[in-house]
Amino acid sequence: MKRTAFLIIGATAAFAAMASADTIAPDDVAYDDYGSVADSLTGVAGDAANGEKVMVTKSLGNCVACHQVSVLDYAAFHGEIGPSLDGVGDRWSEEELRGIVANAKMTFDGTLMPAMYKVSGFIRPGDFKGKPVPNPPSILTAQQVEDVVAFLMTIKE
Ligand code: HEC
Repeated sequence: MKRTAFLIIGATAAFAAMASADTIAPDDVAYDDYGSVADSLTGVAGDAANGEKVMVTKSLGNCVACHQVSVLDYAAFHGEIGPSLDGVGDRWSEEELRGIVANAKMTFDGTLMPAMYKVSGFIRPGDFKGKPVPNPPSILTAQQVEDVVAFLMTIKE
């Protein structure tokens, strides 16, 4: 039992070390008054192809559960809770999209859209017994946010 815990801690430390020193932690992301985030979260250019995968993967962003996107029509399910993302790369700048994906609540007060890059300040942090969950992970990693933003920027009318 002790040994397993040790291995898990070791793996977590290795993973943290893998994240580049330039990666901005969720609590350190700087949003401006309108919810935009000027600087890349990682300093590594986003990979649009990977961003597309994140958007249709249920365990990751699962964006299509709430958003219709014509170029992602091959994905199984498109919800209508959020607006269609067609032309989103024309409507918003990269900085604005980074803010919306990382934490949409900074742009749209009280939105239903989940914050994808956030680890603290949840209203109900806890497991089913009401115990606080230590260090809950963000839904997306910093690089996945950058990848999704890169893909969104390609969605033009
Ligand atoms: C639970 C539903 C839900 C999920 C999941 C979700 N969103 Fe949203 N999203 C919304 C809603 C609702 C809005 C409208 C904002 C508001 O509340 O006014 C929105 C707004 C947006 C906007 C601004 C749209 C525009 O045209 O103005 C973008 C961009 C966006 N979402 C991207 C994403 C991406 C990328 C993902 C996946 C990583 C995602 N959303 C996942 C519900 C969701």
